[in-house]
Amino acid sequence: MKVLLTGGSGFLGSQLCEELLGAGHEVVVLDDHSRGRPARLERFGDRVQLVDGDVRDLDAVRAATEGCEVVWHLAYINGTRYFYEKPDMVLEVGVKGTLNTIEAALDCGVRRYVLASTSETYNNPTHVPTTESERLMIPDVTNPRFSYGGGKIACELLTLHYGGFRGLETVLFRPHNFIGPDMGFEHVIPEITGRIFEMSNGLELKEIDLPIQGDGSETRSFCDITDGARGAFLSGEHGENGNIYHVGTEEEVSIRTLVETIGDVMGVKINVVPGELRAGGTPRRCPSVEKLRGLGYEPKYSFRQAVERCVGWYVDYHMAKRKADA
Ligand SMILES: NC(=O)c1ccc[n+]([C@@H]2O[C@H](COP(=O)([O-])OP(=O)(O)OC[C@H]3O[C@@H](n4cnc5c(N)ncnc54)[C@H](O)[C@@H]3O)[C@@H](O)[C@H]2O)c1
Repeated sequence: MKVLLTGGSGFLGSQLCEELLGAGHEVVVLDDHSRGRPARLERFGDRVQLVDGDVRDLDAVRAATEGCEVVWHLAYINGTRYFYEKPDMVLEVGVKGTLNTIEAALDCGVRRYVLASTSETYNNPTHVPTTESERLMIPDVTNPRFSYGGGKIACELLTLHYGGFRGLETVLFRPHNFIGPDMGFEHVIPEITGRIFEMSNGLELKEIDLPIQGDGSETRSFCDITDGARGAFLSGEHGENGNIYHVGTEEEVSIRTLVETIGDVMGVKINVVPGELRAGGTPRRCPSVEKLRGLGYEPKYSFRQAVERCVGWYVDYHMAKRKADA
């Protein structure tokens, strides 16, 4: 079966590619590489057809969709910085990209449409571990931060009530903090790893004071990208029409524990210095993945193992850079 994967040269997309190829599918990747890198797909050789294009361009999307049975729509603009600096583009890529991929899917006779949404659609969930039936929320429409989560809410509505209503099978999955090697730099773990590396003078100092946002009591759960891609694949491939699936782990950890664990992996003792929390933050976030378990999902990496894999890659990166700069 031939499938279209938008955002396929991104962090999740490139790993999901491995799952799709493993299931015997032919994969067409559509990406403008604004945040992704074609090099991530080199290991697949000509088993992946790479199309350079923008999801805002309906003709390009239609051409890439031709002959595909399933569309996996992942292309989106991530990174907290962009939510504040380019909320217009976050919404344009989000909403136009989703509308275009749905239009093309309908025009080309696609059977199933799979959307990557996000845990951010809950903002501040009323129950933890959170189930998929939790209400979605935009707490302050004037805050540009919600261009990301609000945009995804619009994409979910379009998927279910535009694409779905007009005849597509639809599945949504909501990832919860995937981490791993080469995940980019605008995320909490790469950012903290980089700061610890700098402040410890390339891991020479064995103890440092590290200022953080908030008091460190906020919680998240962190899921290795290998498990994340497996879960995304299971939901899109085997999920029930019109359904929503969480992808993540149920190991809830505080930001303080995260920071101390990163330090521990790097061999540096961290004294956390609490700071101000930016408006729009979420005190607790951890999913129930019970529904996805019903499709055969079981994460393989513990929190500690996932952090080791991720931080190890970034330490090697900073070491190599320091050597090259010397
Ligand atoms: N990684 C996570 O933990 C996580 C969490 C929640 C949601 N998600 C969602 O999963 C999807 C994949 O996330 P990711 O972590 O791989 O992010 P990513 O930034 O690595 O990947 C997104 C990809 O979309 C591409 N893209 C951006 N704008 C485009 C455009 N106009 N046209 C074509 N391609 C474009 C980028 O080049 C990139 O390759 C996104 O929809 C994201 O919102 C991911």
